[in-house]
Amino acid sequence: MAPPTFSTSDSLYEFVVKEGNGVKGLVDSGLSEVPERYVQPEEERINKLRTRRHNNPPIDLSKLKGPDHKKVVDEIVRAAETIGFFQVVNHGVPLELLESLKDSSHRFFNLSPKEKSLFCPGVSPSTKVKYATSFAPEKETTLEWRDYISMGYTTDQDALQYWPNQCKEDALDYLKSASKLVRDILEVLIESLEVKVQESIVDIHSGMKLINMNYYPSCPNPDLTVGVGRHSDIGAITVLLQDDIGGLYVKLDEDNNHREWLEIPPIPGALVINIGDTIEVHMNGKYKSAEHAVRTSTKSRVSVALFNFPNPTLKIGPLEELVKKDGVARYRRVLFQDYMNNFFANTHHGKESSLDFAKST
Ligand code: OGA
Ligand code: NI
Repeated sequence: MAPPTFSTSDSLYEFVVKEGNGVKGLVDSGLSEVPERYVQPEEERINKLRTRRHNNPPIDLSKLKGPDHKKVVDEIVRAAETIGFFQVVNHGVPLELLESLKDSSHRFFNLSPKEKSLFCPGVSPSTKVKYATSFAPEKETTLEWRDYISMGYTTDQDALQYWPNQCKEDALDYLKSASKLVRDILEVLIESLEVKVQESIVDIHSGMKLINMNYYPSCPNPDLTVGVGRHSDIGAITVLLQDDIGGLYVKLDEDNNHREWLEIPPIPGALVINIGDTIEVHMNGKYKSAEHAVRTSTKSRVSVALFNFPNPTLKIGPLEELVKKDGVARYRRVLFQDYMNNFFANTHHGKESSLDFAKST
């Protein structure tokens, strides 16, 4: 089949976004160049020359119980206070499940555009399940090189009824078996505050769960595009499974000899943990949510993110005990629903696209 020619940016938008072909549909049609609509401005690209690798070994979560407890806690806290990212092994999620999850992501995205489109907003059997492309295509000047399926969790029954058959069982198993590590990490972060907090604080941080399967199609020119633009995750913590292609980068604050991007390299069997805005806000800035982005590759890549959010009806704001101790409230109290609405009403343009909403003025 001859590659389609899109005479206007509108016809490309129609094909990719509206007709549900996604970036994958575009690539499968025989594309040899990156269309203009996907060419990022210079400042949004992840220039390889400005990157370095994060070489810290992954944290062994099985050692949380035992004589090395303190050392493991220190490693987690240090990562949460600095870059907001770390990787974990012996995390309790079976390695066969991780392999199977990657396969099921590919199974879903390998469906025909017509089959995937059954999960487009408006026709999807549930408002909690959404197949889409880019982040906010209707508002973005430049689109992200990513298709995804988002699956919000309510009950097991709903998940098995509404999530796509190709991935629902693995996704649900992942959500369940990662719950313990999410709890353990939240407990470590909270214990290390050295202030007394309510028992329920751990539950509060993971009252709502969402799984995103991301598909980054092979890209003819990874230097020009981004898979996901700069953002921080808005929940408490995210558990991310990435395959062996690589492309996840954290933006560093300081000018590290112009090496402003830190690559979180794929480690077989490991899961990536990142701190989200909710933790930064609750802990009054002690822990940092991480600004991150994805560089594309000439090979297709999948990742599976498990987001742990507070309930939308809950107010997030710095813990009172911490405000007393710090003598300042760095954030105001906001309803998490409003916080989410603000994030989704914006495009991805860094941490400020979400966190500024809760900044104290
Ligand atoms: C996300 C995200 C990173 C990745 O889904 O929020 O940042 O490596 N994903 O896919
Ligand atoms: Ni993210």
